[in-house]
Amino acid sequence: MSRFSLRTAFPRTPNPLSQAAAGRHARGLPLWDLAETNPTRVGLPPPDVDLGALPGPFHYAPEPFGLPAARASVAAHLSRQGTRVDAAHVVLSASTSEAYGWLLKLLCDPGDNVLVPAPGYPLVDVLARLEAVQTRSYRLPAVHGFGLDAGLVEAAVDARTRAVVVVNPGNPTGHFLHEDELHALADVCARHGLALLCDEVFSGFAWDEEAGRVTSVAGRRLPCLTFSLSGLSKVAGLPGLKLAWLHVGGPAHARDEALARLEDVADAALSVGTPVQLALPALLEHAPRFQQALMERVRGNRERLLQARPADAAWDVVPAHGGWSALLRIPHHPGEEATCLRLLEEGVRVQPGYFYDFGGGAYLVLSLLPTPEVFTAALAPLVRVLSPSAGR
Ligand SMILES: Cc1ncc(COP(=O)(O)O)c(C=O)c1O
Repeated sequence: MSRFSLRTAFPRTPNPLSQAAAGRHARGLPLWDLAETNPTRVGLPPPDVDLGALPGPFHYAPEPFGLPAARASVAAHLSRQGTRVDAAHVVLSASTSEAYGWLLKLLCDPGDNVLVPAPGYPLVDVLARLEAVQTRSYRLPAVHGFGLDAGLVEAAVDARTRAVVVVNPGNPTGHFLHEDELHALADVCARHGLALLCDEVFSGFAWDEEAGRVTSVAGRRLPCLTFSLSGLSKVAGLPGLKLAWLHVGGPAHARDEALARLEDVADAALSVGTPVQLALPALLEHAPRFQQALMERVRGNRERLLQARPADAAWDVVPAHGGWSALLRIPHHPGEEATCLRLLEEGVRVQPGYFYDFGGGAYLVLSLLPTPEVFTAALAPLVRVLSPSAGR
C-alpha cells in the first residue's frame, strides 16, 4: 500500500445535507438552490470579449508576476478605488486561492500558524493545511455586527503566528472593515511582526454608503507587511478564466524582500494563461457592468426576503452592508441542520451557519444570486418552514 500525507486525509463522507440534496436530484425532484454562488449560472451578463481573437495568444513570455500590460491594468483598476497603486507591486496568479497558497509558502514554515476570522468562509483552513500550516481563529463578535475586535486578534497570537487574514467584507457576514479597526489591527501586526492578508474579493459589492469604510488596503501606508487579494472570479464574475492578483505593500524593505521571494514562488508555477492576460483590460472594462447587474440582483432579492418576513417571525435577517449573501438568525430549536433538512424536503437548499463556524447562535446562509424567479419560488417554503407552527 502506498503512503500518503496526513494533510491530504480529508473526510470524504458526504454530510447529511449533501446526501439529502443528492437524493432529491436522483428522484428527479426540483430544487430551488439558495446555496448557488456560481456567478456564471444565474443569468448575469457575460463579457463581450473574444479570447481567441486577441493578437498573439500563442506567443509565450514566461513572466513570474504576469505580463507587464496586465499588471498595469490591475494597478489602474486598484488605483480607481482611491489610492494610487504601482504596477511593480502587483503579482498575478491563477486564483485568489493560489495567491493564498503562495503567501503561506512565503510567510510560514510547517507548524507555523495564521489567524483567520470566525465566522468566515472555510477556505484558508484547507489551503493552510495543504501547506502544513495551522490556523487559529479569532472571533468576530455577533454583538458588534461581526465587526473586527483587534483585542481578540491579539489574544489569538502565539509564538508561531505569522499572519492575520481579514476578509473585507466578511463572507458571509457582509461586514466591511472600518478605518479604526484597520489601524488597531495594523498596530497589532506591526508590534508582533505579522503580515496582514486582506481578502478583498467582495469589496466592490457594497450595498450602501458607510462613513469610515475601508474598500482596499492596496497602496495604503500601513506599518506592517500588507497583501491585498482579489481577482476576476468575483470582480467580473469569471471564476473559469483563472486570473487573480495580489498587491504587496507596507514598509519598503519588507515589501521588496517579499516581492523578491514571491518572484521565486511564482516562477515555479508560471500559472496564469496568456490569453486571459491579453484580455484583461477588456475584462476589467466589463467588470462595472457585471457588478451593476449583480448589485441589482442582490438588492432585489434582499428586498424580496425582507418583504416575505412576517412581522411576528421568530427569525431575522441580520443587518449587513455588502457581499453576495443574506444571513438569517433562526431559533435554536430545531437548529441549523434540522431546519436545512426540512427545507430540502420542501425543495429549498440553503447553507447552515456551522459551515462558517459561527460558534454560537443558529444561522442560515442564503445566496442572493439566484434569479428573481428561483428566489421568489423558494421564499414561500422558507417562510413556512421557519414559522413556529411548522412541524407541529
Ligand atoms: C472570501 C473568499 N475569498 C476567496 C475565494 C476564492 O476566490 P478564487 O476563485 O479567486 O480562488 C472565495 C470563493 O468563494 C471567497 O469567498
